[in-house]
Amino acid sequence: MTNQSIEFDIDLIKRYDKSGPRYTSYPTAVQFHDGFGEAEYRKWAQKSSESGRPLSLYFHIPFCDTVCFYCGCNKVVTKNRKRAAPYLERLHREIEMQAELLDGSRPVNQLHWGGGTPTFISHEEMTALMDKTRECFNLHDDDSGEYSIEIDPREVQTDTVALLRKIGFNRMSLGVQDFDLQVQKAVNRIQTEEQTLSVLEAARREGFKSMSIDLIYGLPFQSVESFGRTLDRILEISPDRLAVFNYAHLPELFKPQRRIEAGDLPSPQEKLDILQLTIDKLTRNGYLYIGMDHFAKPDDELAVAQRERTLYRNFQGYSTHADCDLVGLGSTSISQVGDTYSQNLKGMEEYYERIDAGRLAVFRGYELNEDDKLRRSVITNLICHFVLHKAEVEKSFGITFDEYFAAELDELAEMEKDGLLEQHPDRIEVKPAGKLLIRNICMVFDRYLREKANRSFSKVI
Ligand SMILES: C[S@@+](CC[C@H](N)C(=O)[O-])C[C@H]1O[C@@H](n2cnc3c(N)ncnc32)[C@H](O)[C@@H]1O
Ligand code: SF4
Repeated sequence: MTNQSIEFDIDLIKRYDKSGPRYTSYPTAVQFHDGFGEAEYRKWAQKSSESGRPLSLYFHIPFCDTVCFYCGCNKVVTKNRKRAAPYLERLHREIEMQAELLDGSRPVNQLHWGGGTPTFISHEEMTALMDKTRECFNLHDDDSGEYSIEIDPREVQTDTVALLRKIGFNRMSLGVQDFDLQVQKAVNRIQTEEQTLSVLEAARREGFKSMSIDLIYGLPFQSVESFGRTLDRILEISPDRLAVFNYAHLPELFKPQRRIEAGDLPSPQEKLDILQLTIDKLTRNGYLYIGMDHFAKPDDELAVAQRERTLYRNFQGYSTHADCDLVGLGSTSISQVGDTYSQNLKGMEEYYERIDAGRLAVFRGYELNEDDKLRRSVITNLICHFVLHKAEVEKSFGITFDEYFAAELDELAEMEKDGLLEQHPDRIEVKPAGKLLIRNICMVFDRYLREKANRSFSKVI
């Protein structure tokens, strides 16, 4: 069983503070290339259909009414609600094409609408999108599927939550970020506590499970005191899960961030203090640290899956559905089918053009080789369970672990001395002080990083 405790060690965090990937895939998207396109995806999708594996469907709804200055998501900001119709028309066609290719009779165990803001679209459009999905794919009708949606509480009408439940959703995450008004003004996201609470209450009334809230630390004007107040309110609200994301200020990369004054950001020390406070407060109040910004109550399915070592990580973050092929629909979305990754075109016009030509919108991807699969398994185990049993990997991949990874194990010795992990003959175990630095540990097993240092990723903490 996984040890679910965590320790905040400021010296270690400062010492290991360097950029690193978030490992929602291995290899990461940096390795995707245009030699893997529609034809390759189609070949793998057909193979996947023969396997009969269940499906996980991701739908990207890229629209937002107003821009939050910190935002790093793939989105289109517009007040014109009519812009959704031409997009949804293409999405419907993509659903038909994918279902034809993938054998629509396979059960859809997981479904997710992300964005952007999925509730930007009208009730009629939401119903039509789910009807189309149900018509083409085999959705569960008994509420046993894990069907989730990202909600911006400012974009919800009185009966939206009831409608979402009626069309089949049973999980949701709410974007909050911070309750403090000064912070909200500085990031152009004014959202009252009442707006957040009323959605949460409606969701509970309608029987949604696993309610999750998104917060961000490191935003302008945040301090230990102000974020502490937000956390206290969150604890009263008592969501099942929390994602507390680290704000990385990269204005060269994300244009809206240019409207945030660097001088208004908390200092690196204050930011670490906020992180420490967050971990202390949440763990003292019964939440477990799942890993990579995520916390959950001990009885939440993520925490249970971690204890039972069935937790998995993919493009949607942590998941309890390791056995599914993940199919991404809509612009920018990423699929994980068989031993491949593939991504749809990012620009609206080019996405429309492809779909209108009766083609799938894949523009780049990657087919994993044996070494990739082996390393993916090692990284997934470490990042999900904080422990790696060498015999399991040896059995799956026919290698001798200590020989294959001799150089990596040597490198881990330094981390072991620092108290991040323990090496045993049969396993590698991440210690409570190493959990916040799990990315650093995974990076040791990343062949592409070993080969090519100096890539620009967001800071680990
Ligand atoms: C697509 S949004 C969620 C749905 C909806 N658009 C909303 O904002 O409520 C996904 C989440 O990503 C997080 N996020 C976005 N940009 C971020 C950034 N630059 N750094 C850290 N977290 C970020 C926010 O917590 C946000 O709630
Ligand atoms: S945080 Fe959500 S609402 Fe704000 S701009 Fe990003 S995707 Fe849109």
